[in-house]
Amino acid sequence: MNDFWSWWVICLIVFNWSLVTFLLIVATRVKIPTRKDGTTGHVWAHGTVREGVRKLPLWWVLISIGSLIFAIVYFYQYPGFGNTKGSLRWTSDQQVRDAVAANAKRQSNLYKDVLEQPIAKLATRPDVLQGAGMLYAENCAGCHGVNGRGNTFIGAPDLADEIWLYGSGDNIKLSIENGRKGVMPSFGHLKTTQLHDVAMYVYTLNGRKVPDIQAVERGEQLFQVSCAACHGQQGQGNQALGAANLTDDDWLYSGSVSGIFNTLRSGRQGVMPAWKERLSESELRLILVWIEALPELNKAENAKEG
Ligand code: HEC
Ligand code: HEC
Repeated sequence: MNDFWSWWVICLIVFNWSLVTFLLIVATRVKIPTRKDGTTGHVWAHGTVREGVRKLPLWWVLISIGSLIFAIVYFYQYPGFGNTKGSLRWTSDQQVRDAVAANAKRQSNLYKDVLEQPIAKLATRPDVLQGAGMLYAENCAGCHGVNGRGNTFIGAPDLADEIWLYGSGDNIKLSIENGRKGVMPSFGHLKTTQLHDVAMYVYTLNGRKVPDIQAVERGEQLFQVSCAACHGQQGQGNQALGAANLTDDDWLYSGSVSGIFNTLRSGRQGVMPAWKERLSESELRLILVWIEALPELNKAENAKEG
């Protein structure tokens, strides 16, 4: 506030104070001429309502004096009287900083545990899970789903099952820290019938049956030539490349014949962003705690829903 506005505010406050004080003094002393019946003689509603005269109640006078004193004490201690800073030197910034510091102190014990205790143990602590769940919801749920069950539109894997595209254990942490980019090339240059044959073959890899056995056999030959290098000869996948296991019932995208066909024709490039720069070590561990707890949490959730 520049000087002009500071003085402007001071004048307004002083003016208001003076006015209120003046009214208070006048109102407690003024004598209003009254009639014998104790009224002023004003009548309304054809005489049914008459205006009486009462002294200001004591409580009202005391509260008014109290507020005036409060205002003076307040402006003495806190900023607000123009540019004055107040005797306490209070600022909202400082209050926030103090609160943040107090909170950090309270949390520091928790964060110490988070950094030192094993993930599996932390995953059983409700106080830890609360913060972990919030971090997961903020950063990961948008792609991997609220319950971590993944999203087949963008190929975000299920984090609540035991199947890992890039391997379990430390690899999970690496996936989160550095991000991942799946590179499944497009086979759009193959003939539609060839794509269909391979899709049929992949479809049967997890034990499902199709009537057209010959297509499956033709598909297998193509698979060995074009796909086995990444997905393995049995289609068991390769975690070093993030090449999906095609023999289980877990699909990043779609496991139907047409879904697989689309994967082959267009290719797939699932992108997992890197979080190293965005999450602190303790936040990262909290999220690992959440992933560890997900299967149990989902079980409890399912039991609740019956
Ligand atoms: C923009 C969407 C997106 C966000 C946000 C995202 N992910 Fe991912 N995540 C993916 C995709 C897509 C993949 C698969 C990458 C691939 O196909 O190579 C993936 C892969 C992973 C993997 C590897 C899974 C496996 O089976 O090996 C883990 C672990 C993971 N994400 C955890 C997380 C965590 C934890 C967060 C939050 C901090 C997160 N992701 C946020 C999209 C996302
Ligand atoms: C260069 C290595 C590479 C080759 C060659 C390759 N793939 Fe892939 N494939 C991948 C990777 C990596 C992924 C995971 C893509 C992602 O994470 O988004 C994948 C994903 C898939 C998926 C999706 C799986 C799911 O769970 O939804 C199918 C189906 C598939 N590949 C089939 C094939 C077939 C059939 C061929 C041969 C015609 C083939 N791939 C060739 C690397 C390869």
